Amino acid sequence: MDFIISLILSLFLILVMFLFFLSFANGIIYKVPQVSTFNSDFRVMRPWLKKYDLQGKRFVDLGCGIGRVLRFFTKEFGVQATGYEIDLSNYLIGKILNLITKIPVNIQLKNYLKSDLSQFEVIYIYLYPELMEVLDTKIWSEATPGTLVICNAFQFEKRTPIEVLKDEKGKEEVFIYRV
Ligand SMILES: C[S@@+](CC[C@H](N)C(=O)[O-])C[C@H]1O[C@@H](n2cnc3c(N)ncnc32)[C@H](O)[C@@H]1O
Repeated sequence: MDFIISLILSLFLILVMFLFFLSFANGIIYKVPQVSTFNSDFRVMRPWLKKYDLQGKRFVDLGCGIGRVLRFFTKEFGVQATGYEIDLSNYLIGKILNLITKIPVNIQLKNYLKSDLSQFEVIYIYLYPELMEVLDTKIWSEATPGTLVICNAFQFEKRTPIEVLKDEKGKEEVFIYRV
């Protein structure tokens, strides 16, 4: 019995290690690694975002990685969270973490460029600048007017944010836009 349990645990561990390796390799292919939003960013967002009343809002994370942002926004602000992730390993790790945390978020294996953004009220992005340029066109032609766009770390070159969230040292961390 002990042997079977340790065999199952070892296989599970090997699977998780394999998924992390695959996630790293795919980060090179998709031009952006799976780096989750940091706790320090969540600390900045937590007090500032309260006034936007996100409770029950349809929220999407474009390139949701392992779903960390989805779980944070669901727990903290009560959004209905959906995430699109192109990388199979990140998607599977995210699903495993959903089971462990029991936080009800919807992670889909999908290229966000093929998604319909008009259904969401809040869009979250943490990507590299070159990927954001493409999204600028997609969001401003497709999203419903009034949609809130939250960009972590990088901003849209051609847009003016309605608000910039700063950390305790005054560094600009998060950029908020309204479509
Ligand atoms: C920097 S990570 C951000 C993860 C998550 N949004 C967060 O803040 O914790 C970017 C993620 O976008 C994913 N990605 C890149 N291009 C994508 C695409 N076209 N469709 C869906 N996901 C994509 C990558 O696989 C990676 O997991």
